Amino acid sequence: MTKTALTLRGVSRSFGGGADPVVAMSDVDLTLAAGEFLTVVGASGCGKSTMHGIAAGLEEPTTGAVELNGTVALMFQDATLLPWLTARGNIELALRLRGVRDRGAEVDRLLAVVRLQDWGDKRPHELSGGMRQRVALARCLAQGADIVLMDEPLGALDAMTRDHLHDEIERVVGSEGLSVIFVTHNVREAVRLGDRVVLMANNPGRIVYELDVDLPRPRRMDSAEVATRAADLMDHLRGTATEPTASRQHLPERVSP
Ligand SMILES: Nc1ncnc2c1ncn2[C@@H]1O[C@H](COP(=O)(O)OP(=O)(O)O)[C@@H](O)[C@H]1O
Ligand SMILES: [Mg+2]
Repeated sequence: MTKTALTLRGVSRSFGGGADPVVAMSDVDLTLAAGEFLTVVGASGCGKSTMHGIAAGLEEPTTGAVELNGTVALMFQDATLLPWLTARGNIELALRLRGVRDRGAEVDRLLAVVRLQDWGDKRPHELSGGMRQRVALARCLAQGADIVLMDEPLGALDAMTRDHLHDEIERVVGSEGLSVIFVTHNVREAVRLGDRVVLMANNPGRIVYELDVDLPRPRRMDSAEVATRAADLMDHLRGTATEPTASRQHLPERVSP
């Protein structure tokens, strides 16, 4: 049987009490298999970041339960590196906080994993945005993560750097055996990277559709096969879109593929 990395069972999260709370997530069931690359796509405000926060244990669900089988680390749009430390120093700090004693060789290994062995002594402002995200990925590994929750990590990068990072993330996730939930609002990116794509809609934030991406890797964002599946997802996205204030009262039916 496939091992499970993370399970959300009937998870809901509301903000603000009173008569009209914001239902950021409503009754979300989600299972991430060990070694799976799951992408989550949806419009702004549909609860993607809330889901990550709950999955990482940073926030409590209002109802429902989270089950984790592994160590979680997070990546965001901003690499959130400490500016006064070098790339090496940022990675080493994560190892130190974990109580790892002999850190030098492991820092070297992690810099090589993300192909920054010649850039270890640079500080964040001396690195490109793509390189900073590679340090952030190495830091996730230094934290001992086997589950990495990525929240629009490539959203601030130019298209060429983003394409390159797709290849790099795919390679590192494969070689290090990570399980990933990668959040994006870019439907093609979701298809490019995901073994499976989950589509979320808002008001209330919920899962409306799932797609198994049956394409060989590596894939290209601009390939016809990726475009076809992205179009299928877009059709479902349009079919479930609601105005921000509409239909909070009732839960629409799940759309099946
Ligand atoms: N701490 C909070 N307090 C109040 N409302 C929040 C809070 N966090 C998120 N929300 C609301 O929950 C909804 C989902 O937010 P979020 O998870 O950030 O969406 P996404 O990441 O998909 O853009 C939004 O309507 C947002 O305004
Ligand atoms: Mg978000």
